[in-house]
Amino acid sequence: MQKGMHKVNNRFNISEEYIRQSHAAMQEIYGMLQQYREESGRQLLAYTHVYGCQQNVADMELLRGMLAEMGYGFTEKEEDADLILMNTCAVREGAEYRIYGNLGALKRYKEKNKELRLVLCGCMMQEPHVLEYIRNSFPYVDVVFGTHNLVHFPCLLLENLRRRKRVIEVLEDADAIAEGFPVKRDNPYSASVTIMSGCNNFCSYCIVPYTRGREKSRAPEHILQEVQELAANGCKEVKLIGQNVNSYGKDLDCGVTFAQLLRKINAVDGIRRIQFITSHPKDLSDELICAMAECEHVCRSLHLPFQAGNNRILKEMNRKYTKEGYLELVGKIKEKMPDITLTTDIIVGFPGETEEEFADTLEVMRQVEFDGVFSFLYSKRKGTPAADMPDLVSKEEKQENFEALLKLQEEIGYRRNQIYVGKTCDVLVEGPSKNDSAMMSGRSFHGKIVHFPGTEALTGEIVPVKIQRAKTFYLVGERIE
Ligand code: SAH
Ligand code: SF4
Ligand code: F3S
Repeated sequence: MQKGMHKVNNRFNISEEYIRQSHAAMQEIYGMLQQYREESGRQLLAYTHVYGCQQNVADMELLRGMLAEMGYGFTEKEEDADLILMNTCAVREGAEYRIYGNLGALKRYKEKNKELRLVLCGCMMQEPHVLEYIRNSFPYVDVVFGTHNLVHFPCLLLENLRRRKRVIEVLEDADAIAEGFPVKRDNPYSASVTIMSGCNNFCSYCIVPYTRGREKSRAPEHILQEVQELAANGCKEVKLIGQNVNSYGKDLDCGVTFAQLLRKINAVDGIRRIQFITSHPKDLSDELICAMAECEHVCRSLHLPFQAGNNRILKEMNRKYTKEGYLELVGKIKEKMPDITLTTDIIVGFPGETEEEFADTLEVMRQVEFDGVFSFLYSKRKGTPAADMPDLVSKEEKQENFEALLKLQEEIGYRRNQIYVGKTCDVLVEGPSKNDSAMMSGRSFHGKIVHFPGTEALTGEIVPVKIQRAKTFYLVGERIE
């Protein structure tokens, strides 16, 4: 590695040589940290913070696995840390501002502890103007890397520890997803498993294809091996992660489709629940609907973002389906699985979206009756086609529409939850409820949050709970012994 290297217009080549280098760097850092521990009697601690989607969360588990392998312990307090690692998200402006705010605040820790290492990675680093800003405005950041060279982290950190110089390495894409690195998962019962990365869709508002590169699928045998190992260690639930899981395998030679992958995972002994995110409506095949309906461990819930209900807006968004096409697809899904829980993502205030056009979004919501909606105010992302589209709609109007959407969804969500009153759900217990420690919280097979009186010892168990009350966002019940 050259010091302070900043590579762009380049791809990360996940060669065996690179992987070997990373493992060697982890070992070398381990030696350095052990020596420090022997001399000072103290283990160096890392504090990690992740922003953004499940993909980033899964990446962070890999980075934490590497940190553990290098000999770092972990702390929940920034002020106690010897290394602070932030995995960033660029999907909306708000996410970026939060990072800048935090970076400013972290400066005081650097001033107090000269040995503290500040590490930044993730989607924001892939935006050239952001990288430039960070380079100039936050000179105290020690190590910077992007989404494609995650597994190069140990080499970059080693370089920084040795030379005490800032190290920046960001690449435009990678040729594969690296295998064979340690992952540190805190929940033994439920695990995220990355099955692919990147996105080829280029929705006109979205930064993800620029920050994550093109679609790359992991080989099915690697995924299966990981799931089998998880199951052997007591894991009951896997969440398969990708920006567009329905196009899984299209870049592989083996011809395995996402539906086939689901069936293979469904057959792994010990795995009781399988979830996946995210599905793009244009790629959701009949084959997948059948696989979902037939696989007993595939959860009866589906996240199917529709973004907007109006055909002109959908076209401008480059979503490649129409309102009618989306409704037809939902019809097919409900026909095969009438009890399915459907959730979605919606963007309010896409450039030029009129009141009448927004009304189509509300209409789709009324027709489908989603169990949950993740709604976002449109956020302009530099470098995306939508950033150059004229937008005369006022902020106030967008906000009003946003609130109308929330109100409608509250009514629908409450109604959808009522269906479960009096029924019994199998709940995978996640732990004590945040607001009331006498209550345990978990999820049903239909993805519903369920609270019930119980003890922490039930964590990780799947228990039957009879639902007594429905709220807008969760259900309350009693365990059946
Ligand atoms: N690959 C997934 C999710 C991508 S990001 C998918 O296609 O569904 C998650 C959500 O963020 C998107 O579904 C979209 O609703 C929202 N989003 C993406 N870019 C946005 C932007 N520029 N402004 C507001 N919301 C955005
Ligand atoms: Fe973004 Fe569209 Fe890709 Fe989802 S499918 S990540 S919204 S470009
Ligand atoms: Fe954010 Fe990157 Fe995910 S932009 S939403 S962390 S893919």
